[in-house]
Amino acid sequence: MSVIISESANPLRGTVRVPGDKSVSHRALMFGALAVGETNISGLLEGDDVLATAAAMRALGAQVTRGEDGTWQVFGCGVGGLAEPGNVLDMGNSGTAVRLLMGVLAGHAFPATLTGDASLRSRPMERIMKPLRDIGATFVSAEGGRLPITMTGAVDPLPTAYEMPMASAQVKSAVLLAGLSVPGETVVIEPVPTRDHTERLLRHFGADVRVEDDPDGRRRVTLVGEPELEGRNVVVPADISSAAFPMVAALLVPGSAVTLTGVGTNPLRAGLMDTLRDMGGDLRLENSRDEDGEPVADVVVRAAKLRGVDVPAGRVPSMIDEFPVLAVCAAHAEGTTRMTGLSELRVKESDRLAAMAQGLSACGVALEETEDTLTIFGDGKAPAGGAEIDSDLDHRIAMAFLVLGMASRDAVRVAQAETIATSFPGFADMMNGLGANMSEAPS
Ligand code: S3P
Repeated sequence: MSVIISESANPLRGTVRVPGDKSVSHRALMFGALAVGETNISGLLEGDDVLATAAAMRALGAQVTRGEDGTWQVFGCGVGGLAEPGNVLDMGNSGTAVRLLMGVLAGHAFPATLTGDASLRSRPMERIMKPLRDIGATFVSAEGGRLPITMTGAVDPLPTAYEMPMASAQVKSAVLLAGLSVPGETVVIEPVPTRDHTERLLRHFGADVRVEDDPDGRRRVTLVGEPELEGRNVVVPADISSAAFPMVAALLVPGSAVTLTGVGTNPLRAGLMDTLRDMGGDLRLENSRDEDGEPVADVVVRAAKLRGVDVPAGRVPSMIDEFPVLAVCAAHAEGTTRMTGLSELRVKESDRLAAMAQGLSACGVALEETEDTLTIFGDGKAPAGGAEIDSDLDHRIAMAFLVLGMASRDAVRVAQAETIATSFPGFADMMNGLGANMSEAPS
């Protein structure tokens, strides 16, 4: 078990590119495996989560290789063309990998068994099985609708129009991916728009996907089934959810000025930047451009004095993975930060609401937690720090507390820090290169 200690940082300086976007990386590999011909992916995140997806696509018959220059190549099997795997598919820590894959497999009439690590085996899967049953897939799960799950895809997949009860890009994507094998149209209706990488990238591979907004704010996504997907080149943007850590650190450590290059700025992902600006953060976008249907920019961040804010509940889906690091930011700000509509945080890699409330309290931060809110009472001074936090197999909890330690009075220790490699391999080295002071504790 690795323990990382984060002590007071020097002013952060420099220009870095954080690893590739996790959401886009999973999708690029999966869609490449469902396309006919060659897909070349540059900037793929080589974290444990995405490597699990690469291994699963190989086990299902696609050819997936990494070139010496770091470009990944996929030769796909075509929509509906994957083969029955010879073994259990172990998706490690990744909810996105297992849930999207269940969607893909719902359109393939063979059995497959999926599992994951202790964190993933504790997460709810009924939200995925329910709509996929409507399409014709069958499931046997562990108690409470958890992994391990053995599923059999539909022989004659049926069209569905699924109205999602929660805001979840994973559920939306699973239904759309099953819909690839369905004759006719598959429709997903979202209560509020969630990240749309599936829609954008499916179009890039040649699928017909329509998006319409109802007057009441709901979004209707329609996919025309049985498309002929064609292999494509994909450039994966730097992950805004990983950029969030050096971004917040640069705001908090006095004298910092950092440039984060090639960051994906998709508006359905960029809610953290809006919130940090509301707090008084100095963030500027340069070289805004479009790469394969995804907006990208360089983000220049300078240290700033921050104030507490109310985060609008409607903004939650566009920054769902950034609440741990936002809570750290709020702990340094002057005034109260109120975050509402956070119930989905309880079913992430860990119960992130509980993990943040406990860890921040242990670091001397005044706060209030309810079922779906977190309120942080900042006084504009550096929090005490000085605690040891267990990541509980949650990479973002680990990184958030290491950022807290960069600007707290006493050092913060994070146990089970190896989980950071699921999304941000090389995190501590990159942060140290900018001026952080993170070191591995002797075991
Ligand atoms: C993701 C969707 C989100 C997010 C996760 C990645 C995706 O999950 O938290 O890290 O790539 O579709 P939910 O769909 O459960 O909100």
